[in-house]
Amino acid sequence: MKLFISSIIFFILASPINAKQQAAVAMPDRFSAEIAEQVLKEGGNAVDAAIATAFSLAVTLPEAGNIGGGGFMLIYKDKKAQFLDYREVAPLTAHRDMYLDKNGEVIENLSLIGVKSSGVPGTVAGMWQAHKKYANLSWKKLLAPAIELASQGFIVPKHLADEKERVSKIFAGKKGINFEKYFSQLKTGALFKQPELAETLRRIAEHGPDGFYRGKTAQLIVEQMKKSGGLISKQDLDEYRAVWREPVSSDWKHYQIISSPPPSSGGTAVVQLLKMKQLLEKQFSGVPHNSPQYIHLLAEIEKRVYADRAKYMGDPGFLEVPVSKMVDSDYLKRRADEVNPDRISISEKVKPGLKESTQTTHYSIIDQWGNAVSNTYTINLSFGSGLVVEGAGFLLNNEMDDFSAKPGVPNAFGVVGGKANEIAPRKRMLSSMSPTILLEGERVKVVVGSPGGSTIITSVFQTLVNLIDFKMSPQNSVDVSRVHHQLLPENVIYFNPELPTKTTQKLQDMGYQLEENYLGDVQLVVRQKNGLSAAADARGRGESRVINWD
Ligand code: DON
Repeated sequence: MKLFISSIIFFILASPINAKQQAAVAMPDRFSAEIAEQVLKEGGNAVDAAIATAFSLAVTLPEAGNIGGGGFMLIYKDKKAQFLDYREVAPLTAHRDMYLDKNGEVIENLSLIGVKSSGVPGTVAGMWQAHKKYANLSWKKLLAPAIELASQGFIVPKHLADEKERVSKIFAGKKGINFEKYFSQLKTGALFKQPELAETLRRIAEHGPDGFYRGKTAQLIVEQMKKSGGLISKQDLDEYRAVWREPVSSDWKHYQIISSPPPSSGGTAVVQLLKMKQLLEKQFSGVPHNSPQYIHLLAEIEKRVYADRAKYMGDPGFLEVPVSKMVDSDYLKRRADEVNPDRISISEKVKPGLKESTQTTHYSIIDQWGNAVSNTYTINLSFGSGLVVEGAGFLLNNEMDDFSAKPGVPNAFGVVGGKANEIAPRKRMLSSMSPTILLEGERVKVVVGSPGGSTIITSVFQTLVNLIDFKMSPQNSVDVSRVHHQLLPENVIYFNPELPTKTTQKLQDMGYQLEENYLGDVQLVVRQKNGLSAAADARGRGESRVINWD
């Protein structure tokens, strides 16, 4: 009898079903929060909600949500972690020096604006794979809210109208851009309809990936390429595949962290940062959050992580990325020992350490069964290449800029690379996207991720440290000032929002240069003792919800 009772107690404690039957979402806008809640309430799981969200953001968050880009989805379902890589690939006719002029210099903006900046999109193939493997609800049902928002329109939030104004100035006067033709009506409070996009979404709803990679949509993409001088061919579209991968996984404190493997640098880098901070426990002990000393120590470990990133990381289909060596505790101990707690290590001397040989969006979901999705996807910078596929109504990405156009030359995010991340046909460009899940035993404790290019890594890292080490509330963990250093530019620390003048002054005295810069809006879901909570970063226009069943 005793045994019977204790096994019932064990069963209740270990049950994946939340005691309260709850779900929670942290979304980058109000429309997606509404749709994700609806899907979960209708019996959809976290993956269903993630798919419906991806398509709805392609309509209401056009600066980053997409069908013309790609991304990563980390799924934890039925106690098993799976990573879906739907990153864009370089077209078949792409080549290493395609962004260099006759003198071998990088041609300004070629990998960033217009038709030549786009990789072959992966989002639709990714959502289809996720649906095939995990979904409860029908594909058509999950696309329906996006189709409605595109055809009936939505009221433009101020945040989106402001972003459009900012980007219009960047695209103004650039050749081959049809951005204004499609987005000039993005004005605060206006009803914004996208009939061509609605038709494309209907084709996808009807025919699955064939509605995008084949038939009319494919034809419209190829025609656009011909008209504007782009590279993506019928064959590129036909042969695009999303790939299932093993996530990066590591112990951290009493948690297991799972995150993005190559072709993202993100998961590996987040693990390196968390572990190095832990190895430097003594140096961090008693050091207050965001104090000059704290920011200096973070910059010291970040220097080393970004040096490794530049040297070793790229598409694992093209080179062997030494992930297990990079997260090995002995290796990280050696790296952590190089940190100088009193002075800035000279950037030039911070070499990769192994003995060898603005726009993305993220959302986090936990469903009523305890399954989780952490999804980051992107068309790279805000509104991608600025080129809309005419007749199909969606923006193409400018993800090709994530390759290293020339060894040592920084990309739009100021990060450098070399051979590991040079351009090759079919190759996936190196990413920093870090959709991450923290497990406590077999239960999901945290789901987190962020946009922000190379700053994604340090945003995810600091959010976890704020939440776990500093025991901040979820909302405070995402909202509080964050800092970022990435080896280059030398001795520059970015911050957002502001830091006290006292702090910046002290850091300047040490030799740092402080600059306020964009850092991404983190979306966080956390399981706490009394149930789930969720936080959308005040930096964006996100909304979080905890959904209760009674
Ligand atoms: O994959 C990457 O790392 C970048 N293309 C992400 C771009 C991004 O986060 C822009 N965000 N604001």
